Formats: sequence, C-alpha cells, structure tokens
Amino acid sequence: MKKVVGVLGLGYVGLPMASLSAIKGFKTIGFDLDKQKIKKISASISPINDHATSLNLTKAISTGNLKLTAKFEDLSKCNLFIICVPTPVLENKEPDLTHLIDAVDQVSKVLKKGDILIVESTVFPGTCEEYVERNISKNTGLSSKKDYVLAHCPERVNPGDSFWNSSNIPRVIGATTKEGNEEAAKFYSKLLGGKIIDVKDVKKELEPKFKLDNNGNLKSKFVPLGSITLMKTIRDAEAVKAMENTVRDVNIAFVNELAKISTALELDVVDIIDGMATKPFGKGPFYPGIGVGGHCIAVDPEWLKTASFKAGYFPEIINLARNTNNLMPIFSMRSLQDECDKYEIITKEQNCLILGISYKKNIDDLRESPYFEVKKIADDIFKKVDVFDPYFKDLSTSSNLEDLIKTADIIILVTDHDHFIDYLRSLDYQETSIKILFDGRNCIDPSLLPDNIIYRGIGRSG
Ligand SMILES: NC(=O)c1ccc[n+]([C@@H]2O[C@H](COP(=O)([O-])OP(=O)(O)OC[C@H]3O[C@@H](n4cnc5c(N)ncnc54)[C@H](O)[C@@H]3O)[C@@H](O)[C@H]2O)c1
Repeated sequence: MKKVVGVLGLGYVGLPMASLSAIKGFKTIGFDLDKQKIKKISASISPINDHATSLNLTKAISTGNLKLTAKFEDLSKCNLFIICVPTPVLENKEPDLTHLIDAVDQVSKVLKKGDILIVESTVFPGTCEEYVERNISKNTGLSSKKDYVLAHCPERVNPGDSFWNSSNIPRVIGATTKEGNEEAAKFYSKLLGGKIIDVKDVKKELEPKFKLDNNGNLKSKFVPLGSITLMKTIRDAEAVKAMENTVRDVNIAFVNELAKISTALELDVVDIIDGMATKPFGKGPFYPGIGVGGHCIAVDPEWLKTASFKAGYFPEIINLARNTNNLMPIFSMRSLQDECDKYEIITKEQNCLILGISYKKNIDDLRESPYFEVKKIADDIFKKVDVFDPYFKDLSTSSNLEDLIKTADIIILVTDHDHFIDYLRSLDYQETSIKILFDGRNCIDPSLLPDNIIYRGIGRSG
C-alpha cells in the first residue's frame, strides 16, 4: 500500500522532513499545534530562516502532495507517522517528555494495524519502549511486536549547513522488530536515495577512508550519502544519537579546558589546535567558544546522564563536561573583565555591544544560547548594553548595526554569523570608539586589527 505520511511537529526537523516526503512523491500531511505556523507554512513561507528549508517547502507545495493542518484528526488518512516534536530539558535539567507523550496520545487516536510509527525526536535510550510503546499499548491495545512498526530514526540535521541536510545526511534506524526495522528503513531509502547498511558492515563501508591507487596516489572515499544503517535494537538507535552529541559536548569541554590552560600559559589556543589539526588521522578538530547552546549538544547529554544515573551509573565526565560548557559564558566574561582591568578601562563607564543572539552561526535559533548568560553579566558590569543579531531584529536594540557601532566601546561577539565576520573584518576601526573586541568564537584574525584595538578571544590574546 502506498504510504501516506503524517509528520507531527513542523520545526527545524519536521518541516524539512515533511517537505522531503512530499517532494519524493508521498502524500504528506504536516501537523503542528501552532496555528500561526500552519498558516505561514501553507502560504509557502518557512518559519525557519534557512535557505534549503525555504526552497524545499516551495517545491513541496508545488507538487500538491503536502497538506498542512492544526487538526490531528486530519492525520487519520495517514499510515506512516513521524514524530518530530521538541524534547527539551526542564529547569532542573531532567528530560521533559510532555510534548512527546502528547504526540503519542494524538497518534494513538489514529493509529491502525499495519501502520508505521517513527520517532525522530531525540530521546534517551529506553524512551521508545518505556514511554511510546507503553502509551500506545495502553491507549489502543496494539503491540509493536505484531500490529504496527515502532522505529526510531534520530534526525541529525544541522540547520544553517549549506551542504548537509535532511536529504543527504546518513541515518541510523532501530525498531522493536527486525522486520519492522527493514520496512521503516526502506521508506527512508526512498527519501534519501542511499543504500541500507547493516551496522555490522559499517566498518567495511567506511574504511579505508583513504587508499593508495596503483600509482601510489592518495584517494579518498566518502561516507555513503543518504545511507541508512540498521541498528540491532531501537535502544541502540536512541543511544547513537544521545552518545554522538555527548561525544561532541565532551570534546568541546576538553578544548575549552585547553583554552583555559592557554590563557594561563599565554598561548594562542587556535594556533595550537590548527597545528594539531594537520595530523591527518584521529578525530577533530574541535574549537573552544563562549558557550555551547542549541537543542541538541546542550540538552542530549543531560538526557543521557539522567538515564544512566537512573540505571545506577553516574557519568562523571559527562557531568564535568556539561558544567565546563555551562560555565563558559562566566569564564569568558571574567576574561573580558581581566582585560579591562589590565588596561585600566572602567567597565561601568563603557558602552557594550553584544553581537549575536543565536546559539550558532547563520541560523535563527536561540535555544540554550550562551547569549542569555553573557547579557545578564554584561548588564551588571557595563554602563549600557546594546544587542544586535540580524536573525533577531525584534530582540536587537536597533535594526541598524552602524548606529550601534558608533556608540560602542566594547564589542562582544557571541555568534559568528558570516554577516558579523565580514562586517568586523571590513570595519574602519579608526572611525569608531571601540577599545576592545572580545571574540567569543575566535573567528577574527587579530593581526588584521589596528594596534589600538585590544583583541581577546577564548584562550587567545591579541
Ligand atoms: N533543531 C535541530 O537542529 C535538531 C537536530 C536534530 C534533532 N533534533 C531533535 O528533533 C526534535 C524536534 O526539534 P526541533 O528543533 O525541530 O523543534 P522545534 O521547536 O523547532 O519544532 C517542534 C514543533 O513541534 C510542535 N509541537 C509541539 N508539540 C506538538 C504536538 N504534540 N503535536 C504537534 N506538534 C507539536 C511545535 O509547535 C513546534 O512547531 C527534538 O527532539 C530535537 O532534539 C533537533
């Protein structure tokens, strides 16, 4: 039977997924609780400021395959459901499952025998069986072992990335039965066009990444685009996502530690990491920064930590890494204060301009952004604090960056949007009263700045 796809939650993950499904020929119903969002998307306006997402949405709507709705009853026509709702953490950093449970309750009302239910939201290992399957069984009496397919295919999309997107990023998938996993994987291979790989063959598929041809020339082999790797269990698929983001978080925490060591030893951490990056094997490079934000790296390790702790093991390194990264805005602002003290710049007499609200470059997502902590501290120590982010005009002090630059004494770069890098590289600093450029992303070459501008990065001085 031809699949009719229902996507629940049309955010950074769900909207590209719904568009891709429609473009690939599936009748698709996109459902979101947010009526304003549905109105916007129906008018072919992407609520996400991302070029590929906007382009694909227009394409999807022109196929006539994509219908948008705020009424879950409309999902009753579907036989394949993809849940893409948020899975944040609560104030106390415990996983917040409310959106997921709500979505599962909605699906329960329309799920039938033979349907496929896929969770793409990021969850900790055990969630699909403990919460999704249990609730479906309680609500409908259906079992994922014989009546419907329950799979987890964690999304790895990287908003703002001009190369990797929902249609080419390799995926992993796990289900509560082997047959169900293969069936769900076939659906993804139609979307992504990549091959299906068994997890036991991954090493063979990926290695060697480099090989010598007959003439002794080095050739590189790439990760198969859009491949779908079959994990042995649904918990394994959940763990891949939680752990790959945690590995990243821990690595960032570690380079943040190297930045602190570099500060103490008066080294330039970026030059050191660039030097290390020339070693052509091993992992990385990772770079330190003013803080780790976003809905994934700043959140998923908390989920994993909680799951592990509840299972009897407290993961010290993850905990330390989270604390290290959470404290980076404070460390950064203390470095800035030290710089001011060193040059006898009285902070209470300075106008500060914060550039960037988003948690990472070139996207309009502020979740868990280090900006908030930086702003709080800046409000305490400076005479006046202005803010500018082209992706958040409503939260910016003015819509005109030039006006804000004119009155700024101290610049704090929180987000390395291309816009800011180009702007700061071409700025005529002699025409401004800027004294310090604090580069929270280590993205400005200090040698390009005039001598009278004090440059400070994370783990590097000018
Ligand atoms: N943003 C990313 O870069 C990214 C990358 C990989 C994985 N993820 C994961 O994907 C999931 C979704 O993240 P996102 O960034 O797309 O979130 P988002 O906040 O951008 O979008 C979620 C959407 O779900 C809607 N929603 C909430 N509850 C709903 C319900 N019960 N029924 C229907 N719609 C509902 C919201 O209105 C919102 O529009 C999360 O688990 C996240 O961790 C996100």
